[in-house]
Amino acid sequence: MNTLVLTIEGNQQDQDKIQQAAQVLKEGGTVAFPTETVYGLGANGLDPKAVKKIYEAKGRPSDNPLILHIADKEEIKPLVASIPPVAEKLIEAFWPGPLTIIFEKSSIIPKEVTGGLNTVALRMPSHPIAHWLIKETRLPIAAPSANLSGKPSPTKAEHVIQDLTGRVDIIIEGDPSQIGLESTVVDITTPIPTILRPGGITYEDLQNLLGEVNIDPGILDDLGQQYQPKSPGMKYTHYAPAAPMTMIEGPTKAVVEKINALTKEYQLQGKKVGILATVETKDDYRGDIVLSLGQRDKPQSIASNLFDLLRQFDKEKVDVILAESISSQGIGFAIINRMTKAAGHRIIHVAK
Ligand code: TXA
Ligand code: MG
Repeated sequence: MNTLVLTIEGNQQDQDKIQQAAQVLKEGGTVAFPTETVYGLGANGLDPKAVKKIYEAKGRPSDNPLILHIADKEEIKPLVASIPPVAEKLIEAFWPGPLTIIFEKSSIIPKEVTGGLNTVALRMPSHPIAHWLIKETRLPIAAPSANLSGKPSPTKAEHVIQDLTGRVDIIIEGDPSQIGLESTVVDITTPIPTILRPGGITYEDLQNLLGEVNIDPGILDDLGQQYQPKSPGMKYTHYAPAAPMTMIEGPTKAVVEKINALTKEYQLQGKKVGILATVETKDDYRGDIVLSLGQRDKPQSIASNLFDLLRQFDKEKVDVILAESISSQGIGFAIINRMTKAAGHRIIHVAK
């Protein structure tokens, strides 16, 4: 398949390119496009054949359901069984933005989108290119992250080009994604709303708005192995860099000491060591490749760098990765969740 790359700089409203991409979507093709969270791979969410192309392009298991992306509130009603008051509140507060809401589905949603579930995930992205594109199609656009299944989600167009060239019709090349982690997924079909995936809208944000909010036990890391996750996507290996990664958690000074000790051991075995550090600690390490996530007191910058740095370790062909843990406050919870998955639950806790 020939993949056409359309470049749109600085989020300009390039109507020709947007119309061209929208036309491909309307005809049942696939288009990767930027959103504020990560790049998405879109297809017509009401066309089973088009949706199948997404699974094929990504190499994704088809029981893992997709999020339908919309441009306007008027699009919600035909897609869902009902809009409960809690949904109204969430929409008012956080849409457009990095929040996905799970509703009871209506009968027009193909089973290819929901993986056979009786619920459907909806999101209204705030990114202008995503918004214009979806609006132009007048369709709900099914869009998972635009990476090959198992790879970290793409936060830059170059990641999408690397993974999906030859596998999709169009890639819209825009700026890097600002948030850098996939949307928060919240299930409102449970008596108490439940976070199925943490993201840019934080637990604290949701609690402030709704009062009581549950966290799916599958998220609370080490439980993950035995627990039967409600969000099917949670059971697959995700975000995994090629080299095995270990996350080291504890007071910063002890973490640095532990990472340096492990680095020495690995280097004696002739291994190339990659270290995922922060601005505050990066000069304290002797790893072969030391990459800084950002400042510890600016977790948003860490979120937007994480997936790119995991891909850089792949390029550098390191043999092992040692990663510092960070605070789990606010968006830190989502960062730790993705790092835990990247580390395949290999976590070392150090005391002091
Ligand atoms: O930020 C995002 O959400 C990005 C951008 C492109 O919008 N999309 C994204 O899609 O991350 P994807 O397919 O990579 O992740 C969707 C997640 C999966 O964990 C999936 O299992 C869950 O949402 N999901 C989708 N429909 C669901 C449903 N009906 N019930 C429970 N979980 C659902
Ligand atoms: Mg994904």
